[in-house]
Amino acid sequence: MEEFTLNISYPEREVKILTGKNALVSASSYINSTFNSKVVLTNKNIWNIWKEYFSEHIKDFYLFQIEDGEKYKNYKTVSEIYKYLVSIGATRKTAFIGFGGGVIGDIAGFVASTYHRGIPLIHVPTTLLAQVDSSIGGKTGYNLREGKNLVGTFYQPNLIVSDSLFLHTLSEREFKSGLAEVIKAGFIMDYKLIDLIESNLNMIKKRDENIISEIMKRAQLVKIKVVKEDVEEQGLRAILNFGHTLGHGIEVLTRWKVPHGYAVAAGMGFAIFLSFSMGYITKGEMIRAINLLKGMGYRLLYKLDYTMLESVIKRDKKKKEDLVEWVLLKSIGKAEFGIKLDMNYIKGELKNYEKFILSDASSF
Ligand SMILES: NC(=O)c1ccc[n+]([C@@H]2O[C@H](COP(=O)([O-])OP(=O)(O)OC[C@H]3O[C@@H](n4cnc5c(N)ncnc54)[C@H](O)[C@@H]3O)[C@@H](O)[C@H]2O)c1
Repeated sequence: MEEFTLNISYPEREVKILTGKNALVSASSYINSTFNSKVVLTNKNIWNIWKEYFSEHIKDFYLFQIEDGEKYKNYKTVSEIYKYLVSIGATRKTAFIGFGGGVIGDIAGFVASTYHRGIPLIHVPTTLLAQVDSSIGGKTGYNLREGKNLVGTFYQPNLIVSDSLFLHTLSEREFKSGLAEVIKAGFIMDYKLIDLIESNLNMIKKRDENIISEIMKRAQLVKIKVVKEDVEEQGLRAILNFGHTLGHGIEVLTRWKVPHGYAVAAGMGFAIFLSFSMGYITKGEMIRAINLLKGMGYRLLYKLDYTMLESVIKRDKKKKEDLVEWVLLKSIGKAEFGIKLDMNYIKGELKNYEKFILSDASSF
C-alpha cells in the first residue's frame, strides 16, 4: 500500500491518494470517521460484484445506483442525482463517493462540484483506466447529444482510493484498455516503467498483484506530475494526448466499437512511427516501442478512410489553424507536445506506417 499527496496550487487543495491492495480497508477509518453523511454513486454491475467488500469497510451511507454504460453519462442522470441528494437532505458537509470506472467518476465529480456549490468528493476508482488516469486530475463532466464531455468542471477530490483488488474482476477488454494508458505514461515520461512492462509482459497479462501495483503506482505518479504542473489544462497536460489524435479518429470512424485504450494503442503505434520519421527517435527505439505494443497483443492497424479521418482529426479540438498538433516521442520515456504537422504529410506517413506494420520490422 502506498500513499501519495497531490498538492494543487490553484485552487489550493491537498488530494490524498491511497493506492495498492486493500487501499479501501486502509482508507475506511478516515472515511467513516470524517463524514457523518455519505452518498455512494455506483452502477448496478459494480455494486453486484463488489457490494460485500465495500459495505464491510464503509459504513452508514446512502446508495444511488445508475445503469451501466457511457450512454448514461448525461444530464438526465445528473439531475436525478441532484433530486436524490435533496430528498435525503444532503448538505455541503455530505461526502459524495464515486465508486466505479471513469463514467461514474466523471458524473460523481460533476455532481460534487456543483451541488451546493461543491461538496467533499471521494473517488474509489474500479477500472485500471480510472485508477491511473481519470480519477486523478479533477476533470469532471457529462456528454451532450452533440458530443462527449462537452459539459464539465475542474474539481479536485479530497481523496482517491485506488484498490488494486478491484482489477481482478475486470473483463480482458477493460483491463487491456486501461493498460494502454499505463504504457502511455511510460512512453511519455517514465522509461523505467517501460523497462518494467517489457520484462514482465506475461505476469502483467496474468494480473499478478505485485507487478500490477508497481506499474499502476508509476503511471499514477506520471499523471500526478503532469496535473501538478498544469491543473487547468493550459499546456503540459496536452502531453497526455500521446496516441490520442489518431486514437480518437479510430474511435469515431469505428463508431466507438474499438475500446478507447485499444484505439490509443494503435494511435501510439503511429505516433511512435512519426517520431522516427521526424528524426526524433532511432529506428531501434521505434522497433522496441512498437514491439512492446505488439507483445501486449494490441492491434496496431485499422483500415480507415483517410478522407474521413482527415475531417475527424481536423475537427478535433486539438487542431489549431490548418495544422494538426501531435504529441511525439523524443526518446522512450520523453515526449513533446504541440508539434504541428501538415495533414498531407500525415496522410503520406499513414501509408508508410501501414507498410511498416505489415512488413517484417527488421527489414524495414
Ligand atoms: N476525467 C478524466 O480525466 C477522464 C480521463 C479519461 C477518461 N475519462 C472518461 O472515463 C470514461 C471511461 O472510463 P472506463 O474506461 O473506466 O469505463 P466505464 O466506467 O464505462 O467502465 C467500463 C466497464 O467496466 C465495468 N467495471 C468497472 N469496474 C469494474 C470492476 N472492478 N469489475 C468488473 N467490471 C467493472 C463497468 O461497469 C463498465 O461496464 C469515459 O466516459 C471517459 O470520457 C475521463
